[in-house]
Amino acid sequence: MRVCILGAGGLGSVFGAALALAGEEVTLIARPAHADAIRKNGLKLTGIRGEHIIREPLTAVADPKDAQGEFDYLILGVKGKDTDAALKGADCLRDRIKTALSFQNNVVKEDILARWLGDPKRVIGFSTIEAGHMVEPGHVHNGLTIPTTNYVGEMDGTLTPRVEALADAFNRAGMGTKAVTNIKQVLWEKLTQICGAAAWSVSCLAGGKDLYYPDGLVVREGAAHYVQVSRDALAVYKAMGYAPQNFYAPVSKLKELDAVEDFEAAVDMMMELGRGMQAQGYRGTTSMHEDVRRGKKTEVDWIIKPLIDKGLELGVPVPTLTAAYRIIKTLDNYLS
Ligand SMILES: NC(=O)c1ccc[n+]([C@@H]2O[C@H](COP(=O)([O-])OP(=O)(O)OC[C@H]3O[C@@H](n4cnc5c(N)ncnc54)[C@H](OP(=O)(O)O)[C@@H]3O)[C@@H](O)[C@H]2O)c1
Repeated sequence: MRVCILGAGGLGSVFGAALALAGEEVTLIARPAHADAIRKNGLKLTGIRGEHIIREPLTAVADPKDAQGEFDYLILGVKGKDTDAALKGADCLRDRIKTALSFQNNVVKEDILARWLGDPKRVIGFSTIEAGHMVEPGHVHNGLTIPTTNYVGEMDGTLTPRVEALADAFNRAGMGTKAVTNIKQVLWEKLTQICGAAAWSVSCLAGGKDLYYPDGLVVREGAAHYVQVSRDALAVYKAMGYAPQNFYAPVSKLKELDAVEDFEAAVDMMMELGRGMQAQGYRGTTSMHEDVRRGKKTEVDWIIKPLIDKGLELGVPVPTLTAAYRIIKTLDNYLS
């Protein structure tokens, strides 16, 4: 299988590394410093899959024009804000791609790819909880995987050889992947999950100097804010006709948050989770919070706004989520 990853940064390079280790032919289109470092020294992968230097069968280029041959799959790996520019720059690849997908955290990427290709049938849905970040050019770190870490599916809900082939490739690569008939639900539930987490972490923790996820959850007011923001997001998801499934168990807690009716009991549950994370020494946070820490523009309009818009459309009030959005949008205005 030949796979091209357009905008191979933190997560795209982790995916490329895993697929190449499983023997798939991977081309990374990356920023020049990253592509140069990979060509010179190979791609270094560290983290939960151990340490590897990958040279074959993996190619890194800085310009889509240098990506050779045809591709079974193109995986779009840039952040939401860079999508239009990246696709415009990759027009030369359009006729050499059979199927396109993206692991971006949003619910518009499939439509955008379909418009770019001029054909919705050449696009499949994809969602992941896998975590990756770039340590330095040429070196990426894979910080999180769970038993079922990826979902792939046709947008029309059918099961086809191309989604099963991609799921097989990821499974061979050691990334537990399910080919599913309900990818739209998976995409909205993932958005619900990370919308709550991102809105909470930035509005609660971004003002502190060195605060991580558990630091906010162990404070009663912080846990209460978490419950309220997440319940706003959940209310929209449920109004769409979905019931929470915890697709990303054990990381997802949406079912539990939905099941505990008493607000203070839900707060206790989140505080307990925070204490457990602290006991394990967990020092992580959301990528939106990381973006704010690094002074980088966030994906606030791709991750939080769609649920607020959907709430407006369905008549679901989301006052706490809206307040968090306004806080983050204000911060975002000063990031570059
Ligand atoms: N990282 C995770 O753990 C994770 C998990 C689940 C989902 N996601 C989603 O995956 C997406 C990517 O996240 P990420 O953390 O991998 O981001 P990232 O590390 O910033 O990677 C994106 C890369 O694309 C590059 N890029 C931007 N425009 C480009 C262009 N026109 N041509 C070539 N390269 C270009 C960026 O370079 P510059 O930085 O120089 O712009 C960056 O190296 C986001 O939507 C995120 O929400 C991430």
